[in-house]
Amino acid sequence: MEIKNPDIKVNINEKPAYSYPIFIGDNLLENAQQYISKYSNANKLLVITNETIINLYPNALKLDNAEFLILKDGEQYKNFETYKQILDKALDMKLERKDAFVAFGGGVIGDITGFCAATYLRGVDFIQIPTTLLAQVDSSVGGKVAINTDYGKNLIGAFYQPKLVLADISTLKTLDNRQFKTGLAEVVKYAFIEKTAMCNFNFFEFMGSNVNAIKNRELDVLKDMIKICCEIKAKVVNIDEQEKGLRAILNFGHTYAHAIEKVTNYTHFTHGEAVAIGMRFALDLAKLRKTITDEYYNASINLLSKYALTYLLPASISQDELMQAMMFDKKVVDKKIRFVLPTEKGKVIITSDIEVKNIR
Ligand SMILES: NC(=O)c1ccc[n+]([C@@H]2O[C@H](COP(=O)([O-])OP(=O)(O)OC[C@H]3O[C@@H](n4cnc5c(N)ncnc54)[C@H](O)[C@@H]3O)[C@@H](O)[C@H]2O)c1
Repeated sequence: MEIKNPDIKVNINEKPAYSYPIFIGDNLLENAQQYISKYSNANKLLVITNETIINLYPNALKLDNAEFLILKDGEQYKNFETYKQILDKALDMKLERKDAFVAFGGGVIGDITGFCAATYLRGVDFIQIPTTLLAQVDSSVGGKVAINTDYGKNLIGAFYQPKLVLADISTLKTLDNRQFKTGLAEVVKYAFIEKTAMCNFNFFEFMGSNVNAIKNRELDVLKDMIKICCEIKAKVVNIDEQEKGLRAILNFGHTYAHAIEKVTNYTHFTHGEAVAIGMRFALDLAKLRKTITDEYYNASINLLSKYALTYLLPASISQDELMQAMMFDKKVVDKKIRFVLPTEKGKVIITSDIEVKNIR
């Protein structure tokens, strides 16, 4: 099979050697061997996946040179114990420097596998085969890899770019509705930031006019949608890989989202649901400060509603708890809470200049 040109090439401005391709399509899994051999010289592959995915795709990635490690399913396994389990397996297989780790799953699998690849023998090839919408539009691109600790989420990690991303969109057919919608929250996020990311896909309009096709998971529309998201993320990461400035715009909605996730112990909402609430919060804050027009505010709320990305906080959560959680976020600098706020369609600003009374 002849390998076509990548759908996207991610380049890192400061590290020209770190360019890598993203392929987005619906027959990638069955041709994975060809893609992997083209972009990696690995003799052996260690494929990390979980019980859910392997049950759904038992024949996927049965490659000549691959061994599998099948993890339990869940965010709670993105931890030190699993990190050790994966590295022990790699050591047991005697993986060498030119060999590769393959992440076959959602963001949990991608994050922990990437962190193992970044640290095993001080770094070996890492291949991302994302299977959730969230992972295809967000976590598999851009090189943030991490594990959780008792002190919080993603506190131990690295910036470590993959060699190759294979986003097989046919895997999205088996995602349950809640997980698909969770991914859509991160998708809609790109509509709010694309112009600040110096892109111009009119993604706000794209999302507004393809609601039914997207909800029905029509593959051609999903492919266009995922490609635009990856283009926007690639553009941001190209300019600012290590979040020293611009990359923070990818956190639109996330300041409040992280607080909600924390006070609800990461159990009540999925990450995307919390981000949807956080985007609404950012819109409300911008409206309160009169930095967006009523017209854009209403259009934005309407876009969130079209995808039913509207949620209520449990009544048991107090304002104080949320304020405290925001104050202890890893992105707080000099006790100032940082927000990404909308200014006009597709544009946001990063600001730490919000009065506590407004946040409350
Ligand atoms: N690295 C980054 O830049 C970045 C960005 C955003 C989120 N994240 C991380 O990503 C994680 C969340 O990722 P996620 O939302 O993909 O969650 P996840 O990996 O837990 O996957 C969600 C659920 O879907 C299942 N699943 C995966 N693929 C499936 C498929 N094709 N069909 C049916 N079920 C499938 C999984 O087994 C799991 O039960 C969090 O740990 C978060 O911190 C990382």
